[in-house]
Amino acid sequence: MTARRSPARRVPKTASDSRVRTTLKRGTPRPPATSPRNAPAAAPSATSAAAAPAIRPKVTCADLLAAKRAGRRLVMVTAYDHPFARLADAAGVDVLLVGDSLGMVVLGHDSTLPVTMADMLHHARAVARARPRALVVADLPFMSFQVSPRQAVRNAGRLLQEGGVEAVKLEGGTRMLPMVEAIVRADIPIMGHLGLTPQSVHRFGGYRVQGRGEAAGKMLLQEARALQAAGCFAIVLEAIPAALAAAITAALTIPTIGIGAGSACDGQVLVLHDLLGVNVDFAPRFVRRFGDIGRAARDAIAAFAAAVRAGEFPASEHTYQ
Ligand code: KIV
Repeated sequence: MTARRSPARRVPKTASDSRVRTTLKRGTPRPPATSPRNAPAAAPSATSAAAAPAIRPKVTCADLLAAKRAGRRLVMVTAYDHPFARLADAAGVDVLLVGDSLGMVVLGHDSTLPVTMADMLHHARAVARARPRALVVADLPFMSFQVSPRQAVRNAGRLLQEGGVEAVKLEGGTRMLPMVEAIVRADIPIMGHLGLTPQSVHRFGGYRVQGRGEAAGKMLLQEARALQAAGCFAIVLEAIPAALAAAITAALTIPTIGIGAGSACDGQVLVLHDLLGVNVDFAPRFVRRFGDIGRAARDAIAAFAAAVRAGEFPASEHTYQ
């Protein structure tokens, strides 16, 4: 583990650590590729897909709700810049999240707390410029919404108006309801975030699994219901026991998107750099590395350095006459 960690990524790997043990079931069999659960949120009809090239419609919040009703699993990844937003969109994800994890993943901070509205707007614009088909959601960073509903609406509005995103995400439950309601009243789509909410790291005393035990589980279920009633169109559930995430998912009509919350959620989200394996020495329990981009990047840079030092690069074909 390096010093740089994303919130959920702070949850240590060891299952014997009682503070962080999760019941993530990685090996749970998935439905076959033809199942509606494997189709993108805004999948074209079979006839339109056969007749036309694969131009898929823009994903909307309504599509995410429809995906839950149809039992289609949702896929969300973080994106912080233009090239990776394009790559993730080309891969067919449903939602791109400009997460405040960018503070740790690409800016080198130790937590998400130093991330500012200026940081979020800068990265949101880069992602939005990719004009992705996926729904683009941006995090409201620490202290951009906690002060008052008025502050929350103003900053949520800036993320849409200046950042070019289509929805915002906000961490917290009952205490954040006035902010959520105000944002909804301003016609700004909002995603909730419960469980291990990284902006609360100092209250939690670390990045620990949340919702363990009957009382804590009941409280999270109540908070999820309240966020739905307040108008959230989806809720991220981070680092909570799988059984609790399953109960919350079953109780809601809006989709849940899990990270370290088991396989019963309506969708899954991972930090893009984690799933790509950008950080070669980082492998927490809730992440599966689907690529080895870190190693590939390091090897390519080392090959460039060796070619320069050996005088092999640039060769004549790289040189203007
Ligand atoms: O900021 C982020 O990347 C997130 C995800 C972990 C859900 O909030």
